[in-house]
Amino acid sequence: MNIPIEIIQRLKDKTILITGGAGFIGSNLAEALLKIGASVIVLDNLETGLQSNVDRLSQYENCRFVNGDICNPEDYRHLLKDVDAISNQAALGSVPRSIEFPFKNHHVNATGFLTILHEAQLANVKRFVYASSSSVYGDSITSPKQEGQEGALLSPYAATKRLNEEYAQVYHQLYGMETVGLRYFNVFGPYQDPNGVYAAAIPKFLDKMLRGEEIVIHGDGEQSRDFTYVNNAIYANLLSLASEDKEALGQAYNVACGRSLTLNDLIQSMQDELKGLGVTTKSTITYGPPRKGDIKDSLASTAKMEQYLNYKPLYTFEEGINEYLRHVLQCK
Ligand SMILES: NC(=O)c1ccc[n+]([C@@H]2O[C@H](COP(=O)([O-])OP(=O)(O)OC[C@H]3O[C@@H](n4cnc5c(N)ncnc54)[C@H](O)[C@@H]3O)[C@@H](O)[C@H]2O)c1
Repeated sequence: MNIPIEIIQRLKDKTILITGGAGFIGSNLAEALLKIGASVIVLDNLETGLQSNVDRLSQYENCRFVNGDICNPEDYRHLLKDVDAISNQAALGSVPRSIEFPFKNHHVNATGFLTILHEAQLANVKRFVYASSSSVYGDSITSPKQEGQEGALLSPYAATKRLNEEYAQVYHQLYGMETVGLRYFNVFGPYQDPNGVYAAAIPKFLDKMLRGEEIVIHGDGEQSRDFTYVNNAIYANLLSLASEDKEALGQAYNVACGRSLTLNDLIQSMQDELKGLGVTTKSTITYGPPRKGDIKDSLASTAKMEQYLNYKPLYTFEEGINEYLRHVLQCK
């Protein structure tokens, strides 16, 4: 990943606390920061995160893992005095999970979020970057999705992500906290867990393709998504952690690739890429009933993030999927 030198300069001597750092996006972010020389504290209770990610990060001298819960300040209050910035990636992901377990979703994604935001404020850790989600657009039919044009929410997960943005804005207003919300759009890439009922589409489809097993699509497969390679999301985090522009703070931004694909096109494209890498798949596709709480189409405008934080996606979808598939095949 080509990170501009001024961003590296601003971050290389910092200590960043990454919650959810044993997860998919958090561990990729931790590794990117460690590679540029920053110190990282990973706070994760391993609820959905993986010990293998912790093991991977433990090869870096400047990485410390703390097994703790964002809902429980005693687990991390003592760490905050040494921290320059927080990147809050910890949450329970998945719309269906939040419909099944709304209180658990609220406890971690809303109460846990407010708990660590509040502790950061008490400890005077000003920069607080956090994972929001494209789900905050709800049933908005605007395309591309633009910040400020949100619709009615469709799931408890989306409700808590919107609440995160509201609280971040309040703490920005009240205490001058330097919050930046990142509305990720369908992130994919290395170290994303393909297992479990709440796994995301791309790692799950890939896993099925490599095993030659049936792929089940919810709905007709014509729903579209702005699939975003993880390095684009990492780049957005680095820009947000490093920004010196006051105007950029206290806001939330779309983090996306800026192009959408239907699930049917996605599968075709993955099969084509795999073929190019010498792998033929025998998976068949079955169409099931659509899932409650899912958005039909999702394409992002990245203009706001470009204007305030100089973000441009570093990877196209094709570049990202190619790199991801190569990574997974190498690890086999
Ligand atoms: N992956 C995506 O496409 C996507 C899209 C939109 C938003 N997001 C958001 O991005 C963030 C990271 O997502 P991900 O895909 O890496 O998910 P992930 O499940 O791989 O990572 C989340 C991490 O948070 C940890 N965690 C959960 N509850 C915790 C708690 N109470 N205390 C401490 N740690 C806890 C988990 O163990 C896990 O390691 C989440 O906030 C998610 O809601 C992800």
